[in-house]
Amino acid sequence: EALSTLSITVVGASGDLAKKKIFPALFALYYEDCLPKNFIVFGYARTKLTDEELRNIISTTLTCRIDKRENCKDKMEQFLKRCFYHSGEYNSVENFAELDSKLKKKEAGKLSNRLFYLSIPPNIFVDVVRCASMKASSANGWTRVIVEKPFGRDSESSAELTRCLKKYLTEDQIFRIDHYLGKELVENLSVLRFSNLIFEPLWSRNYIRNVQFIFSEDFGTEGRGGYFDNYGIIRDIMQNHLLQILALFAMETPVSLDAEDIRNEKVKVLRSMKPLELEDVIIGQYKGHNKGGRAYPGYTDDSTVPKNSITPTFAAAALFINNARWDGVPFLMKAGKALHRKRCGLENPGQRSEFSSDTFQRNFGTDLDKATNELVLRVQPDEAIYLKINNKVPGLGMRLDRSDLNLLYRARFYDYPWQNKDFLPENAYLTGFNLKSKDNLLSETPYFLPRFSHCMNLRLRYPTEIPDAYERLLLDAIAGERRLFIRSDELDAAWSLFTPLLKELEAKKIAPELYPYGSRGPVGAHYLAAKYNVRWGDLGGEDD
Ligand code: BG6
Repeated sequence: EALSTLSITVVGASGDLAKKKIFPALFALYYEDCLPKNFIVFGYARTKLTDEELRNIISTTLTCRIDKRENCKDKMEQFLKRCFYHSGEYNSVENFAELDSKLKKKEAGKLSNRLFYLSIPPNIFVDVVRCASMKASSANGWTRVIVEKPFGRDSESSAELTRCLKKYLTEDQIFRIDHYLGKELVENLSVLRFSNLIFEPLWSRNYIRNVQFIFSEDFGTEGRGGYFDNYGIIRDIMQNHLLQILALFAMETPVSLDAEDIRNEKVKVLRSMKPLELEDVIIGQYKGHNKGGRAYPGYTDDSTVPKNSITPTFAAAALFINNARWDGVPFLMKAGKALHRKRCGLENPGQRSEFSSDTFQRNFGTDLDKATNELVLRVQPDEAIYLKINNKVPGLGMRLDRSDLNLLYRARFYDYPWQNKDFLPENAYLTGFNLKSKDNLLSETPYFLPRFSHCMNLRLRYPTEIPDAYERLLLDAIAGERRLFIRSDELDAAWSLFTPLLKELEAKKIAPELYPYGSRGPVGAHYLAAKYNVRWGDLGGEDD
């Protein structure tokens, strides 16, 4: 290791994703000692910046976990010293050649491994890959490129993008990110399925009536209208994030947990699916709404969105898998922006995902509602896995009730910092939430602290904090672990499912059903579910 260097170049370093996610994730890996001894980080973008200016920008977004607080400042400084900047055009081989000589200088003759993170719009992917592969590839180690979606808009454009990328890179060098695959609960799905005897035998059409995948955000496109209008919610969330979770949920048991074995199974299940049909889809778009004396803008009020846009910001769909395990089971998906769920804090702004599977059949007479079980995986916020079971209400009678067997992550895996009073600032003092003074913190319920800490400007974190998805994915890319990245045949299969529908929606100019900002979305989603005898789950958790 002492003889090699890892160089990470973040292309598009002045963009939002780089600032909010990539640099903080790299820093988190650094202070967890997960990066190799010799590493450097280069920011690359068109904006003219000095190294120092880049460091100043990055430094505002780095955070430390509570157990690492002590030497956090030092660690940040050490990390920032390893960050550099090169300004250049995205299509200039000369500029990438300059980057190469800067990298070489820092690598000081050691074996160099180079990772490029393309945090840039898709129309310049190929330019960057061409210039970087021609002029800034490692001469003696590996060169890998991480790309972010959108990977095209449909089957054809995606295939074209793949074809162009493959002119310069092999499939092994391309790491297509779907950051939902880096989320803790999504990672845990395979463990839950394949290492618990009570689940796998029930995991089929024999016992599962329907499965739901839900994503909702309580904010609109805010500033991203320009990008979003060209894609819409089906391409932004369903074709990738939700479909990936579906594939992990529904795939057959892989031969092993190796990348290729898992990806083979995902491709198989995706290929067994029926392409979506218009009659199994409803689309919506949020409109302006006044609530509590506040005016919330509609989607087309965004100045970057054309006034007559019919791009969906909400969609619900029923999908089907034509194989022996799942024949006839509706897999329902729902994804929407500007919905009613609201959360305090900006890190996890209120999206959730769920699988709720009704299993078992009537045990107790005709009370059908109670004769089911439901398994819920709440990906975020407030990660949890719970199983709704039927239970006798305590007492002399025989009354049934539904109760949760609940694995709530914050209760099970978090070490609460307030169990150690020294973690709190001198006058930590939260009134109104049951917590009154530092001295009685231990005796009071700490439940509200994490959720309100952002509002209160108290960034409390926990020793066992769940790492951000980007940390896991970056670490995997550095290690050459491809399990959580999308292979090109997987991408093709995903597009094949959605492309005919997307084309039809566009050709027929289907108008979305309008729903008020902050509502539960268009009623059409309920009719769609009702068609399959299903009611949407709500993923549990608390409303504010
Ligand atoms: C991105 C989408 O892929 O995921 C965004 O383009 C969405 O529209 C985001 O807001 C949600 O990610 P997360 O990690 O905040 O749930």
